[in-house]
Amino acid sequence: MLRVRELVKEFDKVVIIDRANFEVKEDEIVSLVGPNGVGKTTLVNLISGHLYPTSGTIEYRGKDITTATPYVRIKLGIARNFQITNLFDGATVLDNVRICLFSIYGKIRNWVLSANHYKDVTEEAIHILETFGLSDKANLFPDSLSEGDKKVLDTAMAFALKAKFLLLDEPTSGVATADKFKVMDTIISAIKRQKMSCMIIEHDMDIVFDYSDRVLVLYGGEIIASGHPKEVMEQDKVKEILFGVRG
Ligand SMILES: Nc1ncnc2c1ncn2[C@@H]1O[C@H](COP(=O)(O)OP(=O)(O)OP(=O)(O)O)[C@@H](O)[C@H]1O
Ligand SMILES: [Mg+2]
Repeated sequence: MLRVRELVKEFDKVVIIDRANFEVKEDEIVSLVGPNGVGKTTLVNLISGHLYPTSGTIEYRGKDITTATPYVRIKLGIARNFQITNLFDGATVLDNVRICLFSIYGKIRNWVLSANHYKDVTEEAIHILETFGLSDKANLFPDSLSEGDKKVLDTAMAFALKAKFLLLDEPTSGVATADKFKVMDTIISAIKRQKMSCMIIEHDMDIVFDYSDRVLVLYGGEIIASGHPKEVMEQDKVKEILFGVRG
């Protein structure tokens, strides 16, 4: 589904991503792990089109999207959340999802909407809120939500963009430890039901273990390990990089 080849990203001559190679398959849930500041968000930005690489290629479903705009990528089915949630504070939970739906249907600039169209979008937004267990909070404003619910809403909005491939940058950051698994259960079951692929950046290794089919380790700009979480986490080099433990 997604193929990244020899990807390089420099900022002011400093190489952050250095010939990274990896693939994500259809229906696969992949976790991207690595120390703070190693370039995980940069990699997500390169895939979503919020940054362009210095060299290398990104293919999505056989199409070269290396230089495509974020808008084109969203239309192709690539959506993302943001590490810092990106909600419209002045709009209710329901309206946040509706705004996303209107934008994907190209209606945001259309003043006169047919009553039916408006009704369809509202129904779809309600359905998405049900999928993510947020229906009882539809009329609340985001600032009254818990951090966990804000994160779920942020993911629901990426989901509303009709994604086939979802990039989730730390979907549980800021969420209380006790709520993290509940948030992930909600997000992952929605993703699986829709048969979406997903790349998740996650620091919590318990979450990586429980929710990913495969884990990729980013270090020194490269993907240095890829495989089932259990086998990757047992590699001495990975333990040293992630936990500072020498094998
Ligand atoms: N737009 C930019 N301009 C210059 N340097 C940048 C830019 N974006 C990221 N960097 C640098 O690239 C490096 C990687 O940052 P990035 O945010 O991708 O790391 P990360 O792995 O997501 O970190 P964290 O785990 O803290 O979220 C950092 O040194 C950062 O300062
Ligand atoms: Mg980051």
